[in-house]
Amino acid sequence: MHATDVTPKVWDRIVRTRAGASCLCCGDWSAGERAAIGLYGAMIATPGTCHVAAQIGQSLDGRVATLSGDAADVSGPDGLAHLHRMRALVDAVVVGVKTALHDNPRLTVRLVPGRNPARVVIDPSGRLPNDARLFAEDGARRIVIQTVDVPRPPGVEVIRLPRDTWIAPRAIITALQGKGLHHLLIEGGAITIARFLEADLLTRLHVAVAPLLIGSGPQGLTTQPISRLAQARRPETQVYGLGSDVVFDCLVGTRAAPCAWPHAAMSSAALHG
Ligand SMILES: NC(=O)c1ccc[n+]([C@@H]2O[C@H](COP(=O)([O-])OP(=O)(O)OC[C@H]3O[C@@H](n4cnc5c(N)ncnc54)[C@H](OP(=O)(O)O)[C@@H]3O)[C@@H](O)[C@H]2O)c1
Repeated sequence: MHATDVTPKVWDRIVRTRAGASCLCCGDWSAGERAAIGLYGAMIATPGTCHVAAQIGQSLDGRVATLSGDAADVSGPDGLAHLHRMRALVDAVVVGVKTALHDNPRLTVRLVPGRNPARVVIDPSGRLPNDARLFAEDGARRIVIQTVDVPRPPGVEVIRLPRDTWIAPRAIITALQGKGLHHLLIEGGAITIARFLEADLLTRLHVAVAPLLIGSGPQGLTTQPISRLAQARRPETQVYGLGSDVVFDCLVGTRAAPCAWPHAAMSSAALHG
């Protein structure tokens, strides 16, 4: 396990590298800082590529909330800071409507220095009220993906996509790429992440495990059943100790896929816009 020390100095370098203003290839780093570069440097895709990561925070027994839906403190303080760092490194954060309805998240970067990403909610039936916090005007782009014609607040971009059983995850990524959003974090919940995983569209999956036993409540990722362990995914995985939580950084796809829409710069417009 890599003991990780995300000092202000190394985080600043990572953020500036993400913005295209620095690099990670040189510097005098401690072992813990080098681990931070390993963990977060892998989130920085090269120009002309896309990166779709997912992150889920869970307990030792694989739960993401209590039976009544309390999910606020599953991750410890370092796990939460990790989630905010992940947000700071992407163009857009994507959540399913059940998370938006239940947690009313802001999806901003508040715990670490960094830019707020665009916020995307997949809400096929238009169930999310227009006063949801992720729709709040704060300078970040706000996008809703829906199949119905529900009016949204001024400034909220609406993507209409058809639905079969699900809206095709590839169509979601393609639509977001078309809006200049190439580096995505699928933040949950488990239903939403599972659709992207099953479609083989994730490059990385971060499973952040916190040392608590909930004992009941919704499980983390649940995908199509398999009968034999030989069929299980066994991704190449690095393990990072973050203090209160342990992050399993799983390489579930190619590191970065070519974008459907070539772009010259590493999405600096979304980072600075
Ligand atoms: N621990 C963590 O890391 C974490 C993170 C996020 C959330 N949570 C917790 O997880 C729970 C909610 O997660 P969840 O897994 O139940 O639900 P979810 O993933 O938040 O939302 C699922 C819903 O989003 C819509 N959706 C997502 N992808 C879709 C697609 N490809 N096509 C069509 N519709 C799509 C569907 O809405 P419709 O139902 O309208 O069809 C679907 O039922 C909450 O308790 C929350 O607190 C935990």
